Amino acid sequence: MPNIPLRNGGPCARIAVIPGDGIGMEVTPVAVKAIQAAATKHNRPIEFVHFDWGADKFLRENITLPPGAVRILRDEFDAILFGALGDPRVPSNQHAADILLGLRFQLDLFVNARPTELLHPRYTPLRDITTNDIRLIVFRENTEGLYVGMGGFFKKDTPDEIAVQEDVNSRKGVERIIRHAFDYAQAHKLKRLCMSDKSNAMTYAGDLWQRVFKSVRAEYPDIDSRHLYIDTLAMELVRDPRQFDVIVTNNLFGDIISDLAAQLAGGLGLAPSANIHPGRTSLFEPVHGSAPNIAGKGIANPFGSVLTAGLLMEFLGWNDEAQQLKQSVKSALDDNITTRDLGGSRTTSEVSDYLLNQISKRSSNT
Ligand code: NAD
Ligand code: IPM
Ligand code: MN
Repeated sequence: MPNIPLRNGGPCARIAVIPGDGIGMEVTPVAVKAIQAAATKHNRPIEFVHFDWGADKFLRENITLPPGAVRILRDEFDAILFGALGDPRVPSNQHAADILLGLRFQLDLFVNARPTELLHPRYTPLRDITTNDIRLIVFRENTEGLYVGMGGFFKKDTPDEIAVQEDVNSRKGVERIIRHAFDYAQAHKLKRLCMSDKSNAMTYAGDLWQRVFKSVRAEYPDIDSRHLYIDTLAMELVRDPRQFDVIVTNNLFGDIISDLAAQLAGGLGLAPSANIHPGRTSLFEPVHGSAPNIAGKGIANPFGSVLTAGLLMEFLGWNDEAQQLKQSVKSALDDNITTRDLGGSRTTSEVSDYLLNQISKRSSNT
C-alpha cells in the first residue's frame, strides 16, 4: 500500500471502530489491542472511538447509518476499523447495505485492496507451493458495478415477476481503479498485472473495461500486463498462483475472486482488506463476514482482523508497526497457535494473548 501521511495532520491518530455483528464483535477488539500495543511502544498517540452500528441497533432503534455519520467520519477520523455486518435476524441485509456499502460509496472508497500472502506453507490446499509462491493483490473496484442498487421489480409477487439489477460502469470509475493498480505495481516493483472481466458475454461494460485498459496500459510499458476472462482467472489462480502479482477487476468479480484467493493461503480467517480513497479517511475490514455459524463461541480467528489492522497502520505511514503485527501472526502460525478453522484448538482470546505478547516483545526489541 502506498504510504499516506496522517490525514488530519494532528498530533494524534483518530480511529473510528465499528465492530458490527457476529464475530466482528469478537475479532475487532483484538485488532484494536494489537494497534494499541504497537503504537504505544513507538510512542504514537492514538485515539479510538467506538460506534455501535449494526444489527442490534437496527432492530432496537431502526437506525442503520445515523444522519451526519459520513461527515463525522470523513472530517474527524484518519481511518475506520471495521468488523463485519450480517445477522440472521435481518434477512434483507438492509443494515449492511446502508452501513458498509453506504460508507464505501459515500466516502468514495474506490479501491478495495485485498492482498493474499501465504504466510506458512501448511495452510495452502495446493500441492508443491511454498510461501514465496503466493503473494498477490486483488484491486476490486468498490463504488460501481452491480453493487450500486439500481434496478427494480416488475409485476412483483406475480407468476410473471421480473427483477432487474443494473451494472453501472463509468469511464472515470473504470479508469481510476485500473490506473491505481498500475501505479501500485510500479511503486512496488511488481512486474505482472492482470485485468479481468467478462467482456465476451457482458459486451457493453466489458467493451468499456477493454478500451480503458488498452489506453492505460500503454502508459506503463515496463509492466507485463494481460487480460483474462474472470472464469479463466479463477481456474488459473488454482492451477498456478505463481503467475500473479496484481489483479484488477470489477466490484462483483473482485468480491468472488478475493475469497478464492484467500482460500489458497489458508482461508477467510487470514484475509485482510482495505477500502481506500488515497489521501482521505479510509476503511479497513477483514474479508470475512459475521460468521453466524460460530459467533459467540469465542473461537473466531482474529488473524484477518489483525492483518487488516496492519494495513491500517501502513496507511497511516507506520510501516514498522504494521510489520510487527504481520510478524506476530507469522509467529503464531509457526508455533501452531491457531483457532479451529486452521486446524488448531485455541480460543480467540488465547490467540489474542499470544499475539499481544509477541507484539510487545518485538516492539521493545526494535
Ligand atoms: P462468512 O465469511 O461470515 O463465513 C464463511 C465461513 O467462513 C463460515 O463457515 C465461517 O465460520 C468461516 N469464517 C469466516 N471468518 C472466520 C474467522 N475469522 N474465523 C473462523 N472462521 C471464519 O460468510 P457468510 O457465511 O457467507 O456470511 C455471513 C454473514 O456475513 C452474511 O450476513 C454476509 O452478508 C455477511 N458478510 C459480511 C461481510 C462484511 O461485513 N465485510 C463480508 C462477508 C459476508
Ligand atoms: C465483502 C462482503 C460484502 C460485499 C457484502 C457483505 C455486501 O462480501 O466485503 O466481501 O459483497 O462487498
Ligand atoms: Mn465478500
